[in-house]
Amino acid sequence: MSINIEQAKALFIQEFGGEPDSIVRAPGRVNIIGEHTDYNHGFVLPMAIERETVIVARKRADRELHAFASNLERRAVASIDQRVRNAEEPWMDYIVGVTEELAKLDLALCGADFLIQGDVPLGCGLSSSAALEMAALRMFESFGGFELAGPAAAQLGQRVENGFLGLSSGIMDQFISRCGKRDHALFLDCRSLDYELIPMAFPTAVFVIANTCCSRGLTASKYNERVGECREAMERMRDHYGRATATHLRDFTLAELEVLQDSIPNPAFSRARHVLSEDVRTQAACEAMRAGNAKRLGELMTASDDSLRLDYEVTSPELDAMAAAARKLPGCHGARMTGAGFGGCTINLVEESEVTRFAEELMKAYKASTGLVGEVIISKPANGAEIL
Ligand code: GLA
Repeated sequence: MSINIEQAKALFIQEFGGEPDSIVRAPGRVNIIGEHTDYNHGFVLPMAIERETVIVARKRADRELHAFASNLERRAVASIDQRVRNAEEPWMDYIVGVTEELAKLDLALCGADFLIQGDVPLGCGLSSSAALEMAALRMFESFGGFELAGPAAAQLGQRVENGFLGLSSGIMDQFISRCGKRDHALFLDCRSLDYELIPMAFPTAVFVIANTCCSRGLTASKYNERVGECREAMERMRDHYGRATATHLRDFTLAELEVLQDSIPNPAFSRARHVLSEDVRTQAACEAMRAGNAKRLGELMTASDDSLRLDYEVTSPELDAMAAAARKLPGCHGARMTGAGFGGCTINLVEESEVTRFAEELMKAYKASTGLVGEVIISKPANGAEIL
């Protein structure tokens, strides 16, 4: 737990008067490898991190939601029967979106007073929004006396994003925020939703997250653009190979794509090459992880970053500077951007004995090349969303 629950409870009492009757949490995540593959029905390998969103709540007798976002010092009120977006308090949309999906499933919903407190950095590619959705879902589960299965909970979160919030995102973030497990990474097949928890078994290497501390405003539109480009490549392959049932890039192999280099125009071709090669790397990364082979995993992470920079074009000058600086430092097995891209964080696999020096030198080098102050986050894999 990274949030002090007693303090959060005290804040709840101060804000709403009286004791809460439910406390829930959900973590942020970092993706080790498998980027921009989820919405193509490919493979991902994320882990939940020791940064989380906590909700302290009490049932209300009516159908209203009274929320206090203590980090932002913002308040919002909504009705669970008139579910509308809130332009002034957009963070509330994630919670109202969850009620909308629960209502569609005819699950018991009630009003609540609740306080939200979290330490997942906002807008940095560590899935603060998935953490908020999955924490909100846990709150409604605890009040309604029902519990969704892990994959169904994640799918509900994805529908909130795709529907209420209008983002074409995949299922990775919600899945890991709900199903993550302490000391494990999670290998997910985004088509079947079969998953495997892989123990973190590197004898001497650890993951280090480096935040560029800059996010780009255009992430959502650029993201949706990439989704469209992948679809275009898929349709061209579907027509070429006469595979009428194909729906996602997952229905094709990298070799099948490569022979069409001259007939699929760019950028669609390069986008698809990233996705299909990333699926191969992600499966190889699982093997490396099971074998505790940090050197091999590091190489795959670096290859993933090259592909995201050159073929998928979702890095930024700051992400490139951070990853390049990391690779020059002693003890670094590999470095790559993580999450949607265009800003946010990198993830690095580093020898434990070098971590302190690595963190210091990396921040120095990043400052020297960009003029910006970054931030290092070191985290073990954490548990998924729970009712405390
Ligand atoms: C965002 C989305 C995920 C995934 C990543 C890129 O985090 O929410 O579904 O597509 O970007 O891998």
